[in-house]
Amino acid sequence: MRTQYCAFVLSVFSTASAHSWLHCTALHCTAHNNTGILADMKVTAAAENAPVIDRLMPWFANLCQGWPRAKQNPGNWTEETTNYLWDISKAKFESKESHACHPNQRTPNQHLEAPAPGTKLANLAHHDNPAPMATAAAGSNITLMFGGNGHTRGNNAGPNGDPGRVVVYWVGEKEKELVDIKELNDDTLVQENGFSEESFSYQADKAVTSPTDGLMDKGNWMTLRL
Ligand SMILES: *[C@@H]1O[C@H](CO)[C@@H](O)[C@H](O)[C@H]1NC(C)=O
Ligand SMILES: *[C@@H]1O[C@H](CO)[C@@H](O)[C@H](O)[C@H]1NC(C)=O
Ligand SMILES: *[C@@H]1O[C@H](CO)[C@@H](O)[C@H](O)[C@H]1NC(C)=O
Repeated sequence: MRTQYCAFVLSVFSTASAHSWLHCTALHCTAHNNTGILADMKVTAAAENAPVIDRLMPWFANLCQGWPRAKQNPGNWTEETTNYLWDISKAKFESKESHACHPNQRTPNQHLEAPAPGTKLANLAHHDNPAPMATAAAGSNITLMFGGNGHTRGNNAGPNGDPGRVVVYWVGEKEKELVDIKELNDDTLVQENGFSEESFSYQADKAVTSPTDGLMDKGNWMTLRL
């Protein structure tokens, strides 16, 4: 099964619109899995200036085995933060646009090569290594990795501390595209999870809900069962 990623998380709140995006995917049972990240996070959470895996890119790109369309490897999450934002409701409202995917992600558009001097890829600011799509067999799992950036729980998460949902859709046939948002429906829905269902935040105590009290996202992912 080939899984293609285009549109990703859109958490739309009544008063504000937040977004996250798929950084990359990692396969279970190979170089890396959630158990591995969790162990890393627990260790580093206790250390001063511990690396925050949640930020991903350029850090931790080594954990990744698959990349969304148009994604650079290793990337820079700060500079790429709006590259993958596709606010469907806003786009629809402003221009009657109803495409399911971001303009850069409507065709297979992987940066498959490392950039060589003089090539188009050499102009990409954050691209040093190939960024192929993930491929996986039916019955296996793919770990989707994304940033929570302080919105995993509590005050910043949204109304009632609810950070929203992550939904994965697939058209059901290989090499076929989901084109219109109307196609994001129960027929194409593969899996839905809470945004931070599998996340790890520091501190573990769920009563800590504010960054000023020391709340820090340490990593977000979703296990996609194929
Ligand atoms: C997941 O990673 C942990 C530690 O990194 C390892 O011990 C374990 O065997 C891995 N599990 C699978 C299913 O690969
Ligand atoms: C990523 O981009 C930010 C914003 O431009 C910059 O300050 C930072 O140095 C970059 N990070 C790396 C590791 O290049
Ligand atoms: C996939 O993940 C689920 C948990 O979401 C787990 O129960 C199952 O064993 C995993 N399957 C494989 C093949 O790793």
